[in-house]
Amino acid sequence: MKNERLTCAILGASGYIGQHFARMLADHPYFEPPLLVASERSEGKRLGELWQLAEPPPENLADAKLIAATPSDLARQGVSAAFSALPSGTARDVESELVRRGVSVFSNAADHRMDARVPLLVPEVNADHLALITARPRPRSILVTNPNCSTTGLVLALAPVDRLLAPRVVHVATYQSLSGAGYPGVPSLAITDNVVPFIREEEEKIREESARILGRRRAHTVVPSPVPVLAHCARVATREGHLEAVTVEATRRPRLEELETAWESFDPLHDLDLPTAPCPPIELRREPDRPQPLRDRWAGRPVRARGMAAVVGRVRWTPPYLRFFVLSHNAVRGGAGASVLNAELALRTGLIGRAEGETE
Ligand SMILES: NC(=O)c1ccc[n+]([C@@H]2O[C@H](COP(=O)([O-])OP(=O)(O)OC[C@H]3O[C@@H](n4cnc5c(N)ncnc54)[C@H](OP(=O)(O)O)[C@@H]3O)[C@@H](O)[C@H]2O)c1
Repeated sequence: MKNERLTCAILGASGYIGQHFARMLADHPYFEPPLLVASERSEGKRLGELWQLAEPPPENLADAKLIAATPSDLARQGVSAAFSALPSGTARDVESELVRRGVSVFSNAADHRMDARVPLLVPEVNADHLALITARPRPRSILVTNPNCSTTGLVLALAPVDRLLAPRVVHVATYQSLSGAGYPGVPSLAITDNVVPFIREEEEKIREESARILGRRRAHTVVPSPVPVLAHCARVATREGHLEAVTVEATRRPRLEELETAWESFDPLHDLDLPTAPCPPIELRREPDRPQPLRDRWAGRPVRARGMAAVVGRVRWTPPYLRFFVLSHNAVRGGAGASVLNAELALRTGLIGRAEGETE
């Protein structure tokens, strides 16, 4: 894998998710340092001067200039993979055009998430949905999406206990951080001393996307899970990390120890040894006051997988109701890191590779 580094680009590199992409791809073992693409508003600016994250920008990219580039520009430059942090609405045509031109796209945007032939992927949960692509003749380039940032933590926590509980219904109430709205996001006067009990389209996305991810693949399609997921979504004044309070109404009655073991032993990607895969993907906390965004948002080992683990805690099992909290880093596990992990899986399973004509 060492000599197989692919050329890549970040679309929306000036934005919040774009900067997390830059952080995670600056020295990636499978990808060359990325080209930084944004709109004409940011063209010519240095990444360092736009930087908004708490930790400093990667040294090798701080002075790199953002470019405005079309899909054909990127294809001409031999880009093999594009990591998309474009806004919904803008992403649809750009991503489709890139794929048509032979560039594989790993996207955070919502536009293609529900397309029948596009995997909506959380590798630990539904890696088999990549077969939506392999069911066809091997394409030159592929499009893979990751879910909305609050869906990712939820499905990671549900997947290991799904079979044990056979849920009848899932309720979730979210406490979503400010960075979930990108930069600059929610006006400070609207959120200081406040909680806003509305995030546009979020409750619908959680319901539809989790049904798709937890659904079963049948040949070329996914049959969505029939279990209703009923969400309340609220914006709170934390910086990063979405906390979710989950109640599962179960039809089966496993012992609490079985549920805990299912979470703690869950590690379906272990043998693949993907660089950004957290090991383990779920950290179970037994203290009465965890998980907390401030203390747990960077959960995930090894160092490259910081922020990629979901933290489950405050587990209460009073059959038929299982209650717990789950926390996941919205911009890492629910954003840039999700796309990077999807790309690593696609590369490792042979779905993407070096662009035609490209040499080492
Ligand atoms: N924030 C999260 O936690 C999160 C999590 C999961 C998924 N997402 C999704 O990820 C995407 C990015 O979110 P974000 O929070 O990073 O948003 P953001 O901070 O507002 O960044 C948006 C980026 O898109 C670029 N852009 C806007 N219009 C463009 C155009 N017409 N052509 C090219 N580039 C354009 C912007 O470039 P300029 O600066 O040059 O305008 C900026 O780099 C969205 O689809 C969002 O729904 C976000």
